[in-house]
Amino acid sequence: MDKLSFRNACGQFATGVTVITTTGPDGELIGVTANSFSSVSLDPPLVLFCLGRDATSFSVFQTVGSFAVNILSEDQKAACMHFARIGDDQGEPFDGVDFETWDSGSPILSDCLANFECTTESIHDAGDHVIMVGRVNRMRCEGERKPLVFYTGKFFQI
Ligand SMILES: Cc1cc2nc3c(=O)[nH]c(=O)nc-3n(C[C@H](O)[C@H](O)[C@H](O)COP(=O)(O)O)c2cc1C
Repeated sequence: MDKLSFRNACGQFATGVTVITTTGPDGELIGVTANSFSSVSLDPPLVLFCLGRDATSFSVFQTVGSFAVNILSEDQKAACMHFARIGDDQGEPFDGVDFETWDSGSPILSDCLANFECTTESIHDAGDHVIMVGRVNRMRCEGERKPLVFYTGKFFQI
């Protein structure tokens, strides 16, 4: 089993797409596209995402203690690509991006299907990634829009 075959097999699982955001120690705004989001527990309300150890924001997520999950709609493919650093735009990551902040300062992106503001509950080693578990303190759910879907390395709409 080589890496590429494994990756392709995992890509058979269709997911939504999120942008995970946080604020660094000097107030810098951070966003990372992630499709590894999952709900975990209803009581207490827990969610998770997996973060690659090679992400430039890795050390910030380890130490900062909070993050937000922003679930993208089918209209937000550009945000997905932007926060995956795919393409040419090398400017400030949040230039031209609409967001608000709630209690933790993590950017809460506008026009998402749902947003969750979380306190980091635990971090688990998992190979070349870590599993970040967050306790949801506040959320917004729009529920009307349709999701951006990621499947076999491509984007789809429902
Ligand atoms: C659809 C999609 C899903 C992704 N999912 C994840 C993920 O779950 N975890 C992760 O660490 N990176 C994921 N990535 C890659 C990161 O978004 C990308 O490496 C990003 O640049 C990391 O941020 P940083 O290195 O600038 O901190 C995904 C990329 C795409 C396009």
